[in-house]
Amino acid sequence: MLNKKLRLGVLASGGGTNLQAIIDTCRQGVINAEIGLVLSNKSDAGALERGRKAGLPTLCLDHRQYTDREGFDRAAVAALRDAGVQLVALAGFMRILTPVFLNAFPQRILNIHPALLPAFPGVHAQRQAFQYGVKLAGCTVHFVDNGVDTGPIVIQAAVPVLDDDTEETLAARILAQEHRIYPRAIQLFAEGRLHIEGRKVRIVPPLSPREQALLNPPPASEDAV
Ligand code: GAR
Repeated sequence: MLNKKLRLGVLASGGGTNLQAIIDTCRQGVINAEIGLVLSNKSDAGALERGRKAGLPTLCLDHRQYTDREGFDRAAVAALRDAGVQLVALAGFMRILTPVFLNAFPQRILNIHPALLPAFPGVHAQRQAFQYGVKLAGCTVHFVDNGVDTGPIVIQAAVPVLDDDTEETLAARILAQEHRIYPRAIQLFAEGRLHIEGRKVRIVPPLSPREQALLNPPPASEDAV
């Protein structure tokens, strides 16, 4: 029982590089999980292609075929349950979930967001951060609640904004960190180490001090002021 793999459902609407990071780390045994279903609302999503290439079960539910959000969510929940999914990972899934979905997987839905929440929720987070002029951008893995990008935060990584950055170079640097922290958060869940206490997620036992500060690049002591 101890080595039983956590069964994941990954929902994605886009290219699927976060899905790929999860596939790769599952395969490498870095996370003790297996993907039971890759689900997308877009038939041309790169994520579906990545899932197929990896030999995983994939499903497209075209949201335009449903008269309301609840109908789509009911179909998605049924498919995820059929696949025996225990944890849902939203990986660039660009739809808001209704209580139909949220109540089916209480405290069992994670999302990756390309900003240091609570700053810059919603769409185009990297653009929002770039245009605002922040010096530190980053990404967040959080549990999903009924708000938009408001749920309890599991793990974050900070990314410096460089003088010559464009929105695209900044987004790429953030994405590289997403690929690092999302598998890490899933593994912490798989290990039963995430305890939600109100707004806070306590990690038990705690991360090492080195892991607690996920800075990229790590602070260089000679640069300290
Ligand atoms: C990622 O940057 C993810 O954080 C973002 O979409 C991208 C998907 O990339 N998600 C959101 O903005 C959710 N609000 P991917 O398809 O290559 O993983």
